[in-house]
Parts: sequence; structure tokens; C-alpha cells
Amino acid sequence: MTTIVDELRLAGCVFAEDEAALLVEAAADQAELRLLVAERVAGRPIEYVLGWAEFAGIRVHVTDGVFVPRLRTVLLLKTALETVASIAAPRILELCCGSAALATALERARPDAIVLASDLDPRAVECARLNLGDPGRAFVGDLYDAVPPEHAGRFDVIVANAPYVPTGEIAFMPQEARLHEAAIALDGGPDGTALQARVAEGASRRLAPGGTLVVETSVRQADATCALFERAGLVPRILRDESLDATAVAGVLV
Ligand SMILES: C[S@@+](CC[C@H](N)C(=O)[O-])C[C@H]1O[C@@H](n2cnc3c(N)ncnc32)[C@H](O)[C@@H]1O
Repeated sequence: MTTIVDELRLAGCVFAEDEAALLVEAAADQAELRLLVAERVAGRPIEYVLGWAEFAGIRVHVTDGVFVPRLRTVLLLKTALETVASIAAPRILELCCGSAALATALERARPDAIVLASDLDPRAVECARLNLGDPGRAFVGDLYDAVPPEHAGRFDVIVANAPYVPTGEIAFMPQEARLHEAAIALDGGPDGTALQARVAEGASRRLAPGGTLVVETSVRQADATCALFERAGLVPRILRDESLDATAVAGVLV
């Protein structure tokens, strides 16, 4: 174990001890352990080496290229749960779901909810189908086009961590994201709001009256995200959680 910790530390892994313990737990035998350590030392993100990531206390399947859920997205989880707290059997949609970590956490917290998820990347939807309680609730396609039309106008909440990194800033992201996550999972267009604009624009036709759209954003982009919500007929407010270093905009359809 000490050797593995040293190897990981030398390779620059900040949480070498924790990662060594996880790799030992994951490997069936010594030969597999050597293979997993070698992959990690070569720079493959620990989540892809293990085949899972943790989100809100849940282990979700992730495979190569699929966005690794981030802690900050717990702000969307909390906001969505607060929003539907007094609604029986709420209908919830996660757009740009990636592994559907958020949708999975939502359906675990609210087993009475109908939770749907969609993503353009078939690899992401494969993961989503493994993670969600009902694999038939994950769909491949462009934003709302992927969602069966009978749900239009019936969602109490739509959540989206759509890509919001400005194209020109992807080159400055940490190597693990830049080299290992799919470009479509990161690229938010010239100013980072291209996908958010389309998510906001389509929300009024999919939300139930009084329904809420919640989108992750950055401090810098929050005002621009709000403006997109207003243009789409939603009444927005900016949410900020310092402990998660998270920013989101929630907008109500009035
Ligand atoms: C930042 S990742 C977020 C994934 C997931 N929501 C999470 O927080 O872990 C953005 C996701 O948007 C998806 N995506 C990008 N463009 C899309 C589009 N036009 N329609 C649907 N999904 C799209 C990507 O494939 C990627 O999985």
C-alpha cells in the first residue's frame, strides 16, 4: 500500500492515500491492481479508472469522456428539491444530464417523482440508463427534442448543468477535464451562454404554469444567464452557495 501511495503522490495525485485505498478495493487481484495504478499514474482521472464517481453520497457510473459530476452541482439538487417540496409526484427533467448524477440523486430523494433525463452524447445516456432507477427515462438527443412530447407543459422543475465554459477558456482548464472529458460537455460557445440561451428559450413550452428552470452558471456569467431567462419569459433570481463555490439561476414561469 505504501508503495502505491508513493507512486500516486509522485505522479501528482493530491489525495494519494484515499485513491490508493479505492484502487485496492476495486482490483480483483494484484495484476489488476498494477493495471489500475498504472492508468492513474499515466493521468487517467480516478473516476474513469474506477468506473464511478461520487455525487451527493451516491456512486454513479461514469465511462470515458462522460462528464464527471462536480460537487458544486449539489446547488441544483438542493434548489430542485426545495422547489418541489410541497408538490406530490412532481415531474422533473434534467437536460444535458451526462451520467444523470443529478437526476439519480433527485429520484432517490423523491421516489414519488417522475424524473426524466436527456443528453446529446449516447455514451452519457448509456451511463444515465445504468444510474437511473428506470433506464427508460433517459433519452438521447438535442436538448428538449430528446424528450417525449407528451411531457410538454408538465414539468414542475427543469434542471440543467449545460456546458458554460467559453470556447476560448477550455485550453486553460485542468488537464483532467481538458484531455479526458468530451469537448461537447464543456464548450458553452463564444461567451459560455450559447447552450443556456437555448435551454431558457425552450423552457416556457415545457414547464407547467408556475414551474421553475434551474441552470448552473458562473459568478461572471450570472447576469447574462438572468437576461436570457427574462427574454424567455421567466422571472429569474441568482443563487450563490459559497460552501460549494456554486452559482445558479432559478427562473419561474409566471
Ligand atoms: C457540463 S456537462 C454536465 C453533465 C451533468 N449534468 C453533470 O452535471 O454531471 C454538460 C452535458 O451537456 C451535454 N450536451 C452538450 N450539448 C448538448 C445538446 N445540444 N443537447 C443535449 N445535451 C448536450 C454534454 O454531452 C454533457 O453531458
